[in-house]
Amino acid sequence: MITGTVPVVLDVDTGVDDACAIAFAALHPRVDLTAVTCVGGNAPVDDVVRNTLIVLDAAGRRDVPVARGADRPLLETPVDARHVHGADGMGDLGWAPSERTADPRHAVELLRDVCAAAAESGRKLTIVPLAPLTNIALLLRTHPDAVAGIERIVFMGGAAHVGNATASAEFNVFHDPEAAAIVLGACHELGIDVTMYGLDVFYDPVITREQADRLVAGGHHGAAELAGRLAHYQCDRFGGDAATIGDAGAVCAVVEPDLIRTEVLPVRIELAGAWSRGRTIVDRRDWTGDLAHDPHGEAPVRVAVALGVDAARAARLWYDTLLASTTSPGPAEPTERSA
Ligand code: RIB
Ligand code: CA
Repeated sequence: MITGTVPVVLDVDTGVDDACAIAFAALHPRVDLTAVTCVGGNAPVDDVVRNTLIVLDAAGRRDVPVARGADRPLLETPVDARHVHGADGMGDLGWAPSERTADPRHAVELLRDVCAAAAESGRKLTIVPLAPLTNIALLLRTHPDAVAGIERIVFMGGAAHVGNATASAEFNVFHDPEAAAIVLGACHELGIDVTMYGLDVFYDPVITREQADRLVAGGHHGAAELAGRLAHYQCDRFGGDAATIGDAGAVCAVVEPDLIRTEVLPVRIELAGAWSRGRTIVDRRDWTGDLAHDPHGEAPVRVAVALGVDAARAARLWYDTLLASTTSPGPAEPTERSA
């Protein structure tokens, strides 16, 4: 259990579940949401920016700077997931756009600046990428000294066992495999601890349609209503009575680290495989016999891979946080944050 507040930066491709994650981070009292950066992924980056600003408005958090980042992967041809997230990338709810505009800095510049401020203040950041890792790769290659302001990276991506974008690969890593490889390699070189919240746990924390109803009843165009409507969208789209909180689970695991069971394991990103490009190759061999005859040798990069999650507790944490926002007064009118 963490004490005090955790300075957090989200990197998102909002996205139905990114929206659930942003709302949770904006509302939870132990999260000091410092900035949100946007990247193309689920939807084109300008839609991601629009959606992100909507969520922060609904949560009463216009103090949190939002910056536009990479509109395409480093090398791969861009694809999106609007077949999953809707034409507007956020459930096609018809929610009015924010009157606020994004920070004039590029996402990488905002990340650079908040990392420098964190290094100066000593309150190092937990960076939580919930999207293709393009912005984070650009940051670590362009401004490696940002490491002085980074406590750890907890990213939603990859998987030890399954894929979703393909049989082999998870969407965020598949979208920009080079970026994922750069981030893991740079974190290894720079000594940044990395936790991977992958598909092995991603789908497990869910909320029910009835819980979504209660969130929507919160009304007032608040974050709870928005999150409830997004959960309804998911239930309707997948034809079920439960909706995963998806990306939001990674932020819940920052607030309550014991929600997930992790193993520190060697991880490589497949860049060349015809059918396996974008796969996170998690080495779970538990004896060295193979290694002696393995021409590739053990991957140098070690990642804390989430292999289990207390799904009910994670979903409850997220739901209770959103529900509480329907009764408590919104945050006081925020002062402008200087990053
Ligand atoms: O594979 C799931 C990931 O891809 C989530 O982050 C979802 O929002 C999409 O970006
Ligand atoms: Ca996402």
